[in-house]
Amino acid sequence: MSPADGSIRPVEPGGKIIVAIDGPAGAGKSTVAQHLARHFGLLNLESGAMYRAFGLKALRAGISLDQSPELEAMAANTSIRLEPGQEHNRVLLDGEDVTGLIRNQTVTDAASRVSVFPAIRAWMVRMQQNLGAEGGVVMEGRDIGTVVFPHAGVKIFLDAAPEVRGLRRFDQMGPQPTVQPEEVIRDLRARDERDRNRADSPLRAASDAVLLDSTHMTLEEVVRAAEAIVAAKMSQQNSPS
Ligand code: DC
Repeated sequence: MSPADGSIRPVEPGGKIIVAIDGPAGAGKSTVAQHLARHFGLLNLESGAMYRAFGLKALRAGISLDQSPELEAMAANTSIRLEPGQEHNRVLLDGEDVTGLIRNQTVTDAASRVSVFPAIRAWMVRMQQNLGAEGGVVMEGRDIGTVVFPHAGVKIFLDAAPEVRGLRRFDQMGPQPTVQPEEVIRDLRARDERDRNRADSPLRAASDAVLLDSTHMTLEEVVRAAEAIVAAKMSQQNSPS
């Protein structure tokens, strides 16, 4: 179903919606964001991919992931671009396409570590605000509804029990995973811990976010619930006051 054949009118110019999707790893953010983008004709922007690209650069440069000044100096000479794609964004790091290099466990861990530093976050937030400035976007991450777009028209916080999120991640690894499910759950808990407890913009739901706990839901059900939330907001925006 497309917006054109349903009861929802496209968002008017000037009222272009921003949909913020936050939550921990494995909660289904990417699936939901991809669906919403396709369904409502919005750009899908993955803020985590930017932290991943920066983590990759730090690893390649052999820079300590725990030293903010060195990371800041590197950030001053770094360009990260996101280009919306069919599923994931294409990620350009200093002009190099690193899309296929940022999803492994080492880079995942590096992204979470570099993301604790306020100066790095401030730089990322500025870039993300520029990317979404025109509206008409779905942006997913950890601080989109709280820091990047506190005035987003729709905020959804997706969550699920760590075991459920870990097993989903494990199932996505294909027929011959090289790790045990317990290991995936352990890594995910460690990342949760860091993302939720960092001093600067920790992962948390905005006070006006709609909470969706998918522990006992299928991803299909989560997607439908998120779609209904955005559709309701869009028809509200489009109805004459
Ligand atoms: O969403 P993701 O798994 O690709 O994110 C990778 C890491 O980047 C995550 O562990 C924390 C960090 N991140 C963040 O701090 N803020 C965001 N808005 C997005 C990601």
